[in-house]
Amino acid sequence: MADPFYLTTAIHYPNGKPHIGHAYETIAADVLARFHRMQGRDVRFQTGTDEHGLKMAQKARDLGITPRALADEMSAHFRELFDKLDISYDRFIRTTQAEHHTSSQALWRAMEANGDLYLDRYEGWYSVRDEAYYDASELVDGEAGEKLSPQGTPVEWTVEESWFFRLSAYQEPLLALYRNNPDFLQPESRRNEVVKFVEGGLRDLSVSRTSFDWGVKVPGAENHVMYVWVDALTNYITGLGYPDMDGDMAKFWPADLHLIGKDIVRFHAVYWPAFLMSAKLDVPKKVFGHGFLLNRGQKESKSLGNVTDPAELADRFGVDNLRYFLLRDFTFGQDGSYSPEAIVNRSNSELANSFGNLAQRTLSQVFKNCDGNLPGITGHTPEDEALFAHVDRVVRSEMPAAYADLAFAQALEAWMGAVFACNAYIDAQAPWALRKTDEQRMCTVLGTLYICIAQLAVAVQPVMPGSMAKLLDAMGIAPELRNPDAIGSHWYSPLIESGFGLAKPEGLFPRLELAEGEGAPA
Ligand code: MF3
Repeated sequence: MADPFYLTTAIHYPNGKPHIGHAYETIAADVLARFHRMQGRDVRFQTGTDEHGLKMAQKARDLGITPRALADEMSAHFRELFDKLDISYDRFIRTTQAEHHTSSQALWRAMEANGDLYLDRYEGWYSVRDEAYYDASELVDGEAGEKLSPQGTPVEWTVEESWFFRLSAYQEPLLALYRNNPDFLQPESRRNEVVKFVEGGLRDLSVSRTSFDWGVKVPGAENHVMYVWVDALTNYITGLGYPDMDGDMAKFWPADLHLIGKDIVRFHAVYWPAFLMSAKLDVPKKVFGHGFLLNRGQKESKSLGNVTDPAELADRFGVDNLRYFLLRDFTFGQDGSYSPEAIVNRSNSELANSFGNLAQRTLSQVFKNCDGNLPGITGHTPEDEALFAHVDRVVRSEMPAAYADLAFAQALEAWMGAVFACNAYIDAQAPWALRKTDEQRMCTVLGTLYICIAQLAVAVQPVMPGSMAKLLDAMGIAPELRNPDAIGSHWYSPLIESGFGLAKPEGLFPRLELAEGEGAPA
């Protein structure tokens, strides 16, 4: 049976429409999901919305609607965006779903049974924006002398009866987890921060609220709702049917990867494994905290007026162009910056001019010169062999290794290198000139390119699923060949023999244009 692979994104607060950061994380996760499926893994990919908590309650109050109405409306926007972006999630979870309440309460009971929950009084600082408690020592001074969280968000002094989770008891187990599993938290820099934080000592965590009721009720203490992060994190096991430990829990837990933003690493690498240990469940295998996506180097915000709707970007530049750009332009894990001109430049130089042009030149010559039939190959020159070797190395080893490592930019860099090699080959071999002098050689050159293009299309499917499916369909590549290990070249002669005929090729990636006056001064 195929090896299971469980992968999740963070679930997002539906207190407004999704922004580019949500698209970025989810696209990256989708590329991984598609990559692992292509490798034959049995993938479960979950995303969704995090609908409880004070932030949602306050936003709904400001709008004069119920939190549920807000969640319903905005959650639908997230789902629509993900559908538009070709996100192949298996489950879109909403924390307001009944089974999620059941699952959160079961986890609570399990932590309680382990003696880790007790009732006390909380006095301290809370940031609604971050839905996080902070120590006084972590706060910074704002411009008007007011207190701010380390993320720069407002904090308020909170005094409430609260349930506490005995986080202090998990300092040693957590440090042992980081020590024994060096890959648990990546990239390395995030790991070091968390280790330092835990080494500094852990205080028990306030895990319930009584001042509002938009959340999951604490079992046995129904005037309390759970702290939103307790129920949020539980989504990862709700989606597998917890508390039922058979079925999907048995198959997919522990998760192979939680993909999240760098700002919520503490919740995933400290609180979540502690909750799980307390409930006697396995901890996830890996947490990866990616960087932020900036708009011309700045964080998007309403006050700067630079908020971009990712759906508009996709409509304007194309879903696959956007997906490609977001993973190609910067190292995953570090912050990246985007702008319309950066998207346009990358798309035009690499997708339209390099890969698109390679495919278009090759397929139209096949179409015109070979009566639509595929050209027969008669013996290879060292140049042909060298090209095959290059493409094969990229498709079968460099790209899979890079994807598996979340090194997307590296995978695409290797891909582009192979595309360049194909373009250099077509220029050097000049099949159009061979037409009159050596038709047999022309056929071999076009056939060689045909095979290489199919291989390159297969390898980049996780990043650009829509356009590559279109290309591979047009090229007659059977679905079972569409993975790096299967593709090879053995299908080529049988495809010719089957009488496969190429239809008139259509361009894959049109050249993109900037609007008049668009583009930052250099
Ligand atoms: N909603 C949180 C945020 O956007 C993330 C929750 S991820 C979870 O910051 F897994 F904990 F749910």
